[in-house]
Amino acid sequence: MAVAQREDADTALRVAGLCKSFGDLEVLRDVSLAAHEHDVIAILGASGSGKSTLLRCINLLEVPDAGEVHVGGELIRMRRDRRGQAMPADRRQVDRIRARLGMVFQQFNLWSHLTVMQNVIEAPVHVLGLPRREAVDRAHALLEKVGLSDKLDAYPAHLSGGQEQRAAIARALAMEPAVMLFDEPTSALDPELVGEVLKVIRDLAEEGRTMLIVTHEVGFARDVSSRTVFLHEGRIEEEGASRAVLDAPRSPRLKRFLSGERYGTLPLDQSSHNEGRSGP
Ligand SMILES: Nc1ncnc2c1ncn2[C@@H]1O[C@H](COP(=O)(O)OP(=O)(O)OP(=O)(O)O)[C@@H](O)[C@H]1O
Ligand SMILES: [Mg+2]
Repeated sequence: MAVAQREDADTALRVAGLCKSFGDLEVLRDVSLAAHEHDVIAILGASGSGKSTLLRCINLLEVPDAGEVHVGGELIRMRRDRRGQAMPADRRQVDRIRARLGMVFQQFNLWSHLTVMQNVIEAPVHVLGLPRREAVDRAHALLEKVGLSDKLDAYPAHLSGGQEQRAAIARALAMEPAVMLFDEPTSALDPELVGEVLKVIRDLAEEGRTMLIVTHEVGFARDVSSRTVFLHEGRIEEEGASRAVLDAPRSPRLKRFLSGERYGTLPLDQSSHNEGRSGP
């Protein structure tokens, strides 16, 4: 059984028995996992294996058909409508919990009519009720952290993809989330821009941020994540310490998946000879 039964004090996120279908298509089948504080969990799997759906069920962008999501020990309460469909029991609870989960998407999703600074302060001011001056101070620090101090007044259309994604990361961090959820944060980027975004995520891991990262960057997952979960057709096919799982996979499906990845941007066989953390 992958999930501890007791709720440890340091469990930042726990999902248990998550199931989700779209019509006849079963996309998540009894998925359970727990992230303790400071865990970085990489989620790998072929296209269509349910990775995005898993993240979207965690922050209730999709409503799971069955199973539980706990954030910081708090269960997201669900109920069934008259047709038996699951739905959140308390919208305000969902809003509150969602504010504790920082989501970074493949397609940046910045507000195009707002500058970088305005993008970063928008939710802290309007959702958290932070005084504007405090939000601006926080944004300055975060934009410096992601290397965008010179782009505060730029609009998203005038940024490179890598800069847009770093701004999106700063925007998510501005809510001081308990857990960051990344859905393929580099797969929409030109290859030469991937490294700058991975470096920011690597720095966050070294700071001890709790993160779930869906990625195709196997070398990065191996270096940066503490644990790896491999999804196959909506089930957890294999999971464990990242180095163990990625260097010595047991499941034939994971072996096949990894052999297809060897020619990715960070080849596994190159990084597996580095004992320390290598640069991006
Ligand atoms: N809203 C939806 N309605 C119907 N089918 C959906 C919906 N969202 C996802 N699916 C289907 O669910 C399956 C899993 O999709 P999901 O996006 O979770 O996969 P993924 O592992 O993230 O894939 P990728 O690596 O391509 O991003 C796919 O077959 C997809 O077509
Ligand atoms: Mg996806």
